[in-house]
Amino acid sequence: MGVSDTLKSRKATFLFSDKEVKEETIVDILDAARFAPNPTGIYEYEFIVVADKDTKKKVSEACLTPNIDSAPFIVVIACNPEKLESLFEKDEAGEMCIDNAAMVAEFIILYSSELGLSNASITNLNQAKMRDVLGLPGEYVVRWVIPLGYAAGGSKGYEQTPPKIGDIVHIDKF
Ligand SMILES: Cc1cc2nc3c(=O)[nH]c(=O)nc-3n(C[C@H](O)[C@H](O)[C@H](O)COP(=O)(O)O)c2cc1C
Repeated sequence: MGVSDTLKSRKATFLFSDKEVKEETIVDILDAARFAPNPTGIYEYEFIVVADKDTKKKVSEACLTPNIDSAPFIVVIACNPEKLESLFEKDEAGEMCIDNAAMVAEFIILYSSELGLSNASITNLNQAKMRDVLGLPGEYVVRWVIPLGYAAGGSKGYEQTPPKIGDIVHIDKF
């Protein structure tokens, strides 16, 4: 599929089949995600790949999404805003982590979709629980969680209709 087709056909999934996903596929996806646009060249994010059954269950609970532990892998994007504090005020550094994590997450979402995998974005989570489950150092913040695997039948996310192009595009002035 071309990029445009992948963009238009992708749908989030929260329930996954037990079809195997090879570890190399996850490595390939994360390897590509490193090339996501980054404004500083500091790369304050790191990935935690969760494959252990019990840990996936705990991550799923910390994400308040009971089914994502059905995915063979859950990728967690954790950021260390302190790495940006030589360039930005604390608040700005925190916001930049969110922007950058979004870029990296999008690369993971699109490339994994292109490979035929399904995924979802989770950002609303219990930070303290997640820190505890993953053994994250105190300065790290979890910014994005992406379950990756093959969708179980009929497990597509909410049906949403994107806005019509004519309703959201303005030329020259709003
Ligand atoms: C930035 C962002 C954050 C999200 N956070 C959550 C979340 O914390 N929990 C959740 O259940 N869904 C969350 N979602 C929603 C799903 O990942 C998914 O995007 C939504 O169900 C719409 O489906 P679609 O992506 O197929 O259009 C989030 C989506 C986005 C884009």
